[in-house]
Amino acid sequence: MQLKESIEGLDMNFRSWCVASISCFLFTVAQAQEQPSLPGKDLEPVSVESVQPLVEICEQCHGPGGQSERDDVPSIAGTPAEEILAQLERFYYYERHCPSVDYEGPNGQVNRQSMCDITNALDKQEALALGSHFEHARDAASQE
Ligand code: HEC
Repeated sequence: MQLKESIEGLDMNFRSWCVASISCFLFTVAQAQEQPSLPGKDLEPVSVESVQPLVEICEQCHGPGGQSERDDVPSIAGTPAEEILAQLERFYYYERHCPSVDYEGPNGQVNRQSMCDITNALDKQEALALGSHFEHARDAASQE
């Protein structure tokens, strides 16, 4: 009799363990879907052409076509769009260190900014279009 009760007890424990781990699993899945993102996920997508003025800002530090010509700024040409978006989001949330660097603006004036400043002014649709632009910038660069 005692043995039967303890087996039933085990069974109950197993059941509550199952329920707990399933809820835990669902919770993890829900969390994974709610990764913080740049604002504007519900805005209309924008075309790669329409972000050309932003591309020119990026190129002032990241070099023409995203091929960097300086040691303190990495090249981004050919980086997959989703990786570019992921890094932009990390800068936006200050999850990644963003050193300020100087660059020369179009009128010859010297500006000093960091990736945190840059991503602060970006929305998600622009970031997606920029990612797509620089991912394919490699093809353009390798054809030169
Ligand atoms: C003021 C100069 C500057 C401008 C303008 C700038 N960046 Fe950056 N960017 C940097 C620096 C510096 C880093 C490296 C930060 C570090 O040390 O981790 C960086 C890093 C990145 C990275 C991560 C690259 C890697 O290899 O990890 C991406 C992606 C990126 N920038 C995209 C952009 C885009 C897109 C734009 C235009 C909207 C832009 N950047 C404009 C300076 C700049």
